[in-house]
Amino acid sequence: MIHRFIEERLRFTLTSLLPEADTSAVLVRPCPDPKFGDYQTNALMALAKSRKLNPRQLAEKVKATLDVSEWCAAVDIAGAGFLNFRVKPETVAATLATAARGDHLFYQPAAHPRTAVVDFSSPNVAKPMHVGHIRSTVLGDCLSRTLRLLGHRVITDNHIGDWGTQFGMLVVGWKSELDQAALDADPLTELERLYKLISSRCDEAKIEFNAVIRDRARSELVKLQSGDAENVAIWREIIRLSQSQFDAIYSRLGVKFDHALGESFYNPRLNTVVQALRDLGIAQESGGAVCVFSDGTKPSKEDPFLSTRDGELQPNPFVILKSDGGFNYATTDLATIAHRLETWTPDEIIYVTDGRQQLHFNQLFATFRRWHPESKVKLAHVWFGSILGDDGRPFKTRSGETVKLADLLDEAEERALQVVTEKNPELPEAERREIARVVGLGAVKYADLLPNRQSDYVFSWEKLLALNGNTAPYLQYAYTRTRSVLRRAGVSAEAENEISIFLSAAEEMTLAKHLLNFGLVLEAVAEEYRPNFLCNYLYELAGHFSRFYENCPVLKAEGLERATRLTLCDLTGRVLKQGLNVLGIETLEQM
Ligand code: ARG
Repeated sequence: MIHRFIEERLRFTLTSLLPEADTSAVLVRPCPDPKFGDYQTNALMALAKSRKLNPRQLAEKVKATLDVSEWCAAVDIAGAGFLNFRVKPETVAATLATAARGDHLFYQPAAHPRTAVVDFSSPNVAKPMHVGHIRSTVLGDCLSRTLRLLGHRVITDNHIGDWGTQFGMLVVGWKSELDQAALDADPLTELERLYKLISSRCDEAKIEFNAVIRDRARSELVKLQSGDAENVAIWREIIRLSQSQFDAIYSRLGVKFDHALGESFYNPRLNTVVQALRDLGIAQESGGAVCVFSDGTKPSKEDPFLSTRDGELQPNPFVILKSDGGFNYATTDLATIAHRLETWTPDEIIYVTDGRQQLHFNQLFATFRRWHPESKVKLAHVWFGSILGDDGRPFKTRSGETVKLADLLDEAEERALQVVTEKNPELPEAERREIARVVGLGAVKYADLLPNRQSDYVFSWEKLLALNGNTAPYLQYAYTRTRSVLRRAGVSAEAENEISIFLSAAEEMTLAKHLLNFGLVLEAVAEEYRPNFLCNYLYELAGHFSRFYENCPVLKAEGLERATRLTLCDLTGRVLKQGLNVLGIETLEQM
């Protein structure tokens, strides 16, 4: 990791020039424009500013003292006080050689491993998983994989919605309207039908009959909560049926969880949480409910316990006990943090949900800070935007239903099969289906990971399955090209112990330098929770590989040139495979 060496040397130099300076924020990053160098730092400007020094003069001094001649051919001052570093070709070649030997793959395990709990996917029982849940599943899985690859301790927990008022209605539906045959055929669809049926009847409160249903639902819920054997058995069965459907999807997506402690797991703790917050004066009774209100410590614009309605500031409390005595999502999440801290002592808890839950998490985190001001745990709400249809509205089926995840994955494989069949009609069907599975699922996952997660994106089959473009199939195909060169060369590049590398062509150098930045990008993904950085890195890598491959014959080359080029193919393939693996996407040897 050359940028690390430069960073260390730079910090050392700065400490000698400015002994009191905090150099921990001094970073060396890829230079945005390779015309000016390979790496760059902008740290001198901030250091100069806070000391009222002239940034260019500081840069001159640093340049005069700094010795990076082992790795760099040139150090230049640019603009208002940037330092640009140009790496020596021998340094690039040497790093490639150690990677080819298997010493590293351009990333390093974290110097200070952290423990992170990642809370993601978290679907709700008795409702089919829909496209919104795929985004949480795919993003959360990718972040977990990235953190793990970098040597952190990761605990994944699926916070399944297996508790709540919907169970009153489900029990009523189960007892009076259950269609056993439909349940056997497709449990989640039948459960969803029951839920919708009863809840729509409850909503039409005008008609007296519906008030009766509402009361029934409420009393079934109370019975369930007080441990009534029949209702508990129905609830368990509903969870079991849902869980097996979720599991089928997870196994298709290759996603595993260390834990799936659903909301119900925290029931026994909820009373204690409410009591503790009341005792500490953090929560107060208000109109029969128990709520957390603003403590006035934040500017009103940033205060999650205040909102503006009709131009006026209003209290926007976090309700932890409802006036009917029920606990809710908020209470459960407070108990969940407490449990996680006691059980795993994490440095960080990451929640992956859609953007509509921002207020909930802001209130949750603020309440927790008041409850445990001593805690150093980092709490991150990693939120994402919606998936839209061609019409710019939430992605729906033709008949206007939300798209079920299982159907979406089926369609992805089906469409990929058509593409594969057009390209390779001669392949046996089983092989075509396997390719279609890997390509179709990869394409859907990549479509979720590529956009900036906070923006909405338009779902388009044509776009995500395109072989030319920033797509999973394009990257998977690039990987197969690297493999096919190595196969045709008849050597596995890894087999050659003494690897010598000499980079001469510009395309070789560009590709090689891009490989060097893999670890830097992985770290940025883990730091900012943004898998799109990795998608774009891999897309650029595939582009550099393509240009290299078009301009630099590999199999017809000889001697050192041939060895160098084969090594470039091999390392590009390994980085593509590892990178796609972190995104949760499989690769094939042939497509
Ligand atoms: N079940 C929730 C939903 O589908 C997501 C839960 C997220 N995790 C949490 N700890 N609140 O919207």
